Amino acid sequence: MFYKKIIRPIFFKIDPEKIHHFVIQFLSVVSRIMPIYFLIRHFLNVVDPVLSTQIGKIKLSNPIGLAAGFDKNIEAPLAYSMLGFGYAEVGSVTFTAQLGNPKPRLWRIVKDEGLIVYYGLCNPGAQAAVQKMNKLKDRFIPFGVSIAPTTGLKLSQLADDYLESFKILFPLVDYITLNVSCPNVAKCDLFTQVSFIKELLEKMSSLKKQLNSTIDIFVKIGPDMTDEQYDEIVDLCVANNVSAIIATNLIKNRNNIVPSSTIEELNHPGGISGKMVNSNSNAVIKHLYKRAAGRLQIIGVGGVFTAKDAYEKIKSGASAIQLITGFIYGGPTTIMHINKGLATLLKQDGFKNINEVVGIKT
Ligand SMILES: Cc1cc2nc3c(=O)[nH]c(=O)nc-3n(C[C@H](O)[C@H](O)[C@H](O)COP(=O)(O)O)c2cc1C
Repeated sequence: MFYKKIIRPIFFKIDPEKIHHFVIQFLSVVSRIMPIYFLIRHFLNVVDPVLSTQIGKIKLSNPIGLAAGFDKNIEAPLAYSMLGFGYAEVGSVTFTAQLGNPKPRLWRIVKDEGLIVYYGLCNPGAQAAVQKMNKLKDRFIPFGVSIAPTTGLKLSQLADDYLESFKILFPLVDYITLNVSCPNVAKCDLFTQVSFIKELLEKMSSLKKQLNSTIDIFVKIGPDMTDEQYDEIVDLCVANNVSAIIATNLIKNRNNIVPSSTIEELNHPGGISGKMVNSNSNAVIKHLYKRAAGRLQIIGVGGVFTAKDAYEKIKSGASAIQLITGFIYGGPTTIMHINKGLATLLKQDGFKNINEVVGIKT
């Protein structure tokens, strides 16, 4: 309440990218003061066996994770366990540092409780991510890093760019996500096509064998593909030992949405996050879940603001959840409320563990 009534109206008067940086810096400072870290964690971390689950080989004490894009530069890694997340995905990082798109490149669409994101993969590069992860001694929760290709490369160079990032990052994290959904960069159609995903997954699979690595690989896809493309991606992921598909990234195609915002408010380049992604991503999750038929897991992301939203995604086939926008609109107690509410909903419906519910609505 305090956040929504007092803090958020102040934040929302200021440029969204500036506030994004301010919040990360603030979280970084606060979470490094250990007495404060443990005090806040004590109040916000929900411990309940009904919420425990596993994605691939990774055990989670609760299924709510931070999605890629909130902390691209790994600046506040301790903050996420402090706020009650069960796991955190940092990045997306590219092998070579890049500035991203010119500013402004982030807008709020308040009537639709969402954001328009046009960052264009700004990040200090995979080597900087290695240094940050190396410094992180206590993690408290599992960490994954999302990797994407450096902008401007030719199609023939893209897969190798992912592999270079993988080689230096995989010993430092619990999982690697291959972001093959368009993150607002030029020529992103190159690495979102199924033929490229096939090449990438096959190369990644042989690199893992060569390096003797058993790390879990997740693949993150967008919400704007056809059912046939989703089917092909599931089969390719299964064939190449991918543990989970993350569905979905931002909405690019504006034809399939029913916004409350005006055309002017939506008139920015970039992908849409938040409430408008919710039903779209649930439909994709259901489709992927049915096609996967237990051969891999799904992580549901897009428009999760409440326990009910998370429950709906789990019933649609998600074994775990990720979010960003719900946290931005809901504030620091969001994850606690979602976890508490989820535990209550599960128990009310007579379930002993979240895994009993995965996919029951498909
Ligand atoms: C500010 C911002 C930056 C993002 N950057 C990335 C990114 O670098 N890589 C990625 O895979 N997804 C990125 N995303 C997409 C989110 O991970 C997520 O898929 C999407 O926002 C839908 O979830 P939400 O409605 O809970 O925000 C970004 C989203 C936001 C809001």
